[in-house]
Amino acid sequence: MKKLVIIMVLLAFVGANVAIAADSYTYENKKGTITFQHKAHQERVNGDCAKCHEGTPAKIEVDKNFGHKTCKACHKSMKKGPTKCSGCHKK
Ligand code: HEC
Ligand code: HEC
Ligand code: HEC
Repeated sequence: MKKLVIIMVLLAFVGANVAIAADSYTYENKKGTITFQHKAHQERVNGDCAKCHEGTPAKIEVDKNFGHKTCKACHKSMKKGPTKCSGCHKK
């Protein structure tokens, strides 16, 4: 019985855990493969999740619009990170 309670507490803990982002994500399309280093980017913005996430950080649908607006715009404004096609899209 005691063991069962411990297991249930552990399961509840795991269930309540929020989503954890992977260290990196890749997107493949006809222009090539894009690698997005999530962990490195978190550090680059000093943990300011709101640079990319609205509200509580959760999954973002990364599409062409997001890539060419949010991603590229920040690289431009910080004068760091790729702004050329081949900087993000690797063949
Ligand atoms: C430079 C942009 C950027 C910053 C800054 C950023 N994220 Fe993200 N995050 C993303 C993108 C893009 C995705 C979606 C990746 C995917 O699923 O394709 C994502 C996904 C996530 C997810 C969902 C993981 C999943 O698979 O369900 C979590 C949780 C998350 N981020 C947490 C954070 C937290 C916490 C911070 C701040 C400490 C943060 N992010 C900062 C861009 C960013
Ligand atoms: C809020 C600012 C910001 C946003 C938003 C952002 N980046 Fe970056 N990114 C940077 C900075 C700063 C660097 C350069 C780091 C360096 O050279 O020291 C960088 C570098 C990169 C690099 C070069 C390889 C690497 O990781 O060092 C790639 C590729 C890249 N970003 C892809 C993306 C993609 C794809 C997205 C959107 C999903 C994105 N970035 C969103 C700030 C941003
Ligand atoms: C800052 C990074 C970045 C730069 C620079 C960039 N892209 Fe993208 N691009 C993305 C991301 C992220 C996506 C969405 C990924 C996905 O949906 O597979 C994307 C999607 C696309 C798509 C859609 C592909 C598909 O099959 O859905 C095309 C086409 C494209 N980009 C062309 C370009 C061209 C041309 C340039 C240069 C003028 C360029 N990109 C520069 C990040 C970038």
